[in-house]
Amino acid sequence: MAFGSLFCCGRSSEGREPGKKAAPAWRVFSLKELHSATNNFNYDNKLGEGGFGSVYWGQLWDGSQIAVKRLKTWSTKAEMEFAVEIEILARVRHPNLLTLRGCCAEGKERLIVYDYMPNLSLLSHLHGQQAAGCLLDWGRRMSIAIGSAEGIAYLHHHATPHIIHRDIKASNVLLDSEFQARVADFGFAKLIPDGATHSKPEKRPIMLDVVDLLKGVSKEKLLSLEDNELFKPESTAGYQGLSM
Ligand SMILES: Nc1ncnc2c1ncn2[C@@H]1O[C@H](COP(=O)(O)OP(=O)(O)O)[C@@H](O)[C@H]1O
Ligand SMILES: [Mg+2]
Repeated sequence: MAFGSLFCCGRSSEGREPGKKAAPAWRVFSLKELHSATNNFNYDNKLGEGGFGSVYWGQLWDGSQIAVKRLKTWSTKAEMEFAVEIEILARVRHPNLLTLRGCCAEGKERLIVYDYMPNLSLLSHLHGQQAAGCLLDWGRRMSIAIGSAEGIAYLHHHATPHIIHRDIKASNVLLDSEFQARVADFGFAKLIPDGATHSKPEKRPIMLDVVDLLKGVSKEKLLSLEDNELFKPESTAGYQGLSM
């Protein structure tokens, strides 16, 4: 699998001024650098875990804080998720989407580096370790719901090509220092070819479905959305653009 074209510093298309040299949006990290930033992926640095692997807090030499997602076990499927997440996150910049800092691929190690989100996931506040702190008042909840919707709307309508996330849930909405929502985890996302539309617009999930998924309470809704052809693995919206 050739990831060569992915592994060069990227520049997102957002916020570029003509004639001005923009700072690289993301870069390649060495494994050594990430070992040192995370104290050798120390258990005490662990922020969370998902299907792909564990996520660790780290600090770079310049003092900036990062989150590093480390692949659990190498497989072709995991390699695909890794490539998809980088391919897609590198294209987008929006205040309600998690920012990609870079990646690392050495041997069978696959790591993705993001900005650290100090208030962790929405799930941890609704049903997890942070729930007892009752930090989410109604004002914050509204702004998280609206922010998540704005991030998703940007992916659907403004990213080029359009993107569908396909894994919206409370553990994939992170919260920054101001409790602003940042949609994360693009491992299942798909790029939608230009001009492609859903054959049955009435089958598209409405915002209320999305809010139920964000609350993490509606298993039935999730099942019905999984039956929706838009969310089926094989469609015209393939992994185009990946160098594999
Ligand atoms: N940038 C981050 N800052 C803080 N915590 C994070 C960050 N990224 C991920 N996490 C934590 O790790 C968990 C798993 O991350 P995620 O990207 O969803 O991985 P997976 O692809 O394995 O599901 C999240 O639910 C969250 O608790
Ligand atoms: Mg996840």
